[in-house]
Amino acid sequence: MALPKSVKIVEVGPRDGLQNEKATVTTDQKVALIERLAAAGLQAVEAGSFVSPKWVPQMADSADVLRRIQRQPGTSYPCLTPNMKGFEAAMDCGVEEIAIFGAASESFSRKNINCSIDESLARFADVCDAARAKNIRIRGYVSCVLGCPYEGDIAPEAVADVSAKMLELGCYEVSLGDTIGVGTPERTKRLIETVAKVVPITRLAGHFHDTYGQALANIYAAMEMGVSVFDSSIAGLGGCPYAKGASGNVATEDVLYMLQGCGVETGVDFDQILQAGWFISDVIGRVPVSRVSLAMKAKV
Ligand code: HMG
Ligand code: MG
Repeated sequence: MALPKSVKIVEVGPRDGLQNEKATVTTDQKVALIERLAAAGLQAVEAGSFVSPKWVPQMADSADVLRRIQRQPGTSYPCLTPNMKGFEAAMDCGVEEIAIFGAASESFSRKNINCSIDESLARFADVCDAARAKNIRIRGYVSCVLGCPYEGDIAPEAVADVSAKMLELGCYEVSLGDTIGVGTPERTKRLIETVAKVVPITRLAGHFHDTYGQALANIYAAMEMGVSVFDSSIAGLGGCPYAKGASGNVATEDVLYMLQGCGVETGVDFDQILQAGWFISDVIGRVPVSRVSLAMKAKV
């Protein structure tokens, strides 16, 4: 299949990235990062997470972040809400789009959100009912779609099953997460083929961590299958605190460079993204985990 004409990038660095960075990032610095990313033309910047601060202390100031960002028209600022407590906290600071996050692996579900897959779906049903009543958009994540740190291989059918249930709950889109970055392009294609039987491909997104250096290849494979929404993280920030060894999502800089080279439109300003990557990298005191960013920096 031909590549899509345009791709939507969902920037997850301020959440998926920063939730797993050891360096302290102040609320001001988070706000500045989110505003820079939106100014670069990203249509979606995941801005925070309303989870337990005991579980993920890095996201403890999400309410302050959400209260302080200057929202830009045309950009959404989704936040993670695992349960009603998180949903209510998100509503208190003007969140307009939420994300529920489940898994295709029982063990990962327990480690990450302390309940079984079925229990998580029951909690999400309450959250989704409340969200729909307020016209809040809902995105769904399924983790461990190409492998689990505790169970190893995960059957594509298990991913399809949870994805279909998320759609039924009212998610406008389901993001398939290769949480530990073990997937390869042909497995990615088989996964999408299976999930697309129960969720229209236009409602699927790809969320590839780059632990094994396969993320760009997997994105390309997914685009060949017709997927046109991808999550990425500025400067390749992050990982997942409940998946040991998981490195960051694929870097936004690397995804943009590949898409530009393929003639796929994104509406995102490459130069502003490079600057935002260096801004947050300076804050956390290391260079970006992005080959493209490093190569561009070496040229100036
Ligand atoms: P629990 O301990 O089962 O919850 O945690 P509980 O209902 O029994 O409550 C225990 C305590 O947590 C209570 O406080 C609650 O008030 C509090 P205490 O009385 O002990 O002081 N609590 C909360 N506090 C703030 N916000 C809340 C909340 N809920 C309960 N929403 C819970 C269940 C889901 C909260 C917990 O397991 C948790 O926070 N997990 C964090 C999971 C997480 O954030 N993981 C990383 C994000 S997922 C990810 O990165 C993958 C993704 O990127 C896709 C991919 O890569 O695959 C999305
Ligand atoms: Mg992730």
